[in-house]
Amino acid sequence: MKKKIIINKIIYPFKNKSITVSGDKSLSIRFILLSSLANGKSSAINILKSEDVINTIECIKKLGIKVKTTKSKFEVFGKGLFGYKYKNNLILNAGNSGTAARLLCSILVDTKKVIKITGDNSLKKRDMKRIIEPLKMFGAKFEHNNYKLPIKIFGTKKLKAINYTENLGSAQCKSAIMLASLKTPGVTKLKCLPSRNHTELMFKNVIKTPISIKKEKNYDLINLKGLKQFKSFNYEIPGDISSAAFFIILTLLAKNSSLKIKNVNINNTRIGIIKILNKMGAKIKYANKKKYKGEQIADIIVKSNRRLNSIKLNPNLNSSAIDEFLLIFIIAGVSKGISTFRNLSELNKKESKRLDWGIKILKMVGIKVKKIKNDGLKIHGNPNLKLKKKIEVKNYLKDHRVFMTSVITALTLGGEWRIHDADCFKTSFPSFFRILRDLGAKTI
Ligand code: S3P
Repeated sequence: MKKKIIINKIIYPFKNKSITVSGDKSLSIRFILLSSLANGKSSAINILKSEDVINTIECIKKLGIKVKTTKSKFEVFGKGLFGYKYKNNLILNAGNSGTAARLLCSILVDTKKVIKITGDNSLKKRDMKRIIEPLKMFGAKFEHNNYKLPIKIFGTKKLKAINYTENLGSAQCKSAIMLASLKTPGVTKLKCLPSRNHTELMFKNVIKTPISIKKEKNYDLINLKGLKQFKSFNYEIPGDISSAAFFIILTLLAKNSSLKIKNVNINNTRIGIIKILNKMGAKIKYANKKKYKGEQIADIIVKSNRRLNSIKLNPNLNSSAIDEFLLIFIIAGVSKGISTFRNLSELNKKESKRLDWGIKILKMVGIKVKKIKNDGLKIHGNPNLKLKKKIEVKNYLKDHRVFMTSVITALTLGGEWRIHDADCFKTSFPSFFRILRDLGAKTI
């Protein structure tokens, strides 16, 4: 276990480099869960081999599903919609993954035995009410302490289709309801604020289950017909934009550098960061665009640009950048002018309180920042910021995105950084340091 990392040198310029980031985490977890409910052998290429994904795999194995890893692919031997083996005293540990914990509960709404779901210290602080309440409407019962993990789930034989309005803009909450609907007779009707739409795309293009989606002004209306068994499938997982984001920011803030990030999922519901950076003047481009099973994939091309302008962010972009705000705050901190952000309460419900951590990091590096009403931030950018001081980042609940944001900030803004819990990047992005070293970054 590596305790801390020291960074005291900014990265040298890198020119015309080309990298590939690890597979998309949301798609990897969805692949595992859906293939475990399919009939027969499904296989994935480029599945993410991070801790969140490995924990999800361990959970479906405990439900009696066989998996096989070869050098080039990952295989899951699904046994149909009702094929799980429910043993006595089963405990599923989702580790750090909110997506795994919440989506697992939803596919266990019919469990015949009581199942305990738990997670690490960060996951135990996160809100499970958002999925417990709708899953109770389907007929499942729960035992919990103030809606926090560990929880126990008691399944039902008599699942009932529900009508539900999802008002958080949470893809995990929406997806939990969608997955529960697969095992439920009748039509489940979901009205939800827009959020990443990978589950919808997989339902429609991969498992081909009956689904209709209507887009209204502020909401998506999704109807889902349950009980349709589906065949096994193959899936090639593209790179994760949330991992690519660290290298986009690294390149923008490094001197005289340019980078191509190959084969990234640029689904419109995920590219808030690129839209925001381009509005600030970043001129990030795409090449080799192609469609794959409803997802949009491309190479991302980015060049250094330290002369960005501030932004008054329209909150309708929040959801498509939800995991990238720590990086966006850093960029706002070195841009010209005052940036404002609003309606970011969901950030404090992540692996750590990320709105609070955004403020802390900005203050540590000496950027003026203020909380404003409606869970907002006002950041006074300083394009001339040059760091010399010592900075220590610790006690952040091992939030992988706080860690990687700190590393990128240290490598581009300078100063002498000590960043603790230096292993936690493995939660989502195990090749993070290998790529950084390939680009010439020096860490101790
Ligand atoms: C995810 C949805 C988002 C995101 C998380 C992954 C998903 O969470 O923050 O990292 O795969 O559905 P919310 O749905 O809670 O916003």
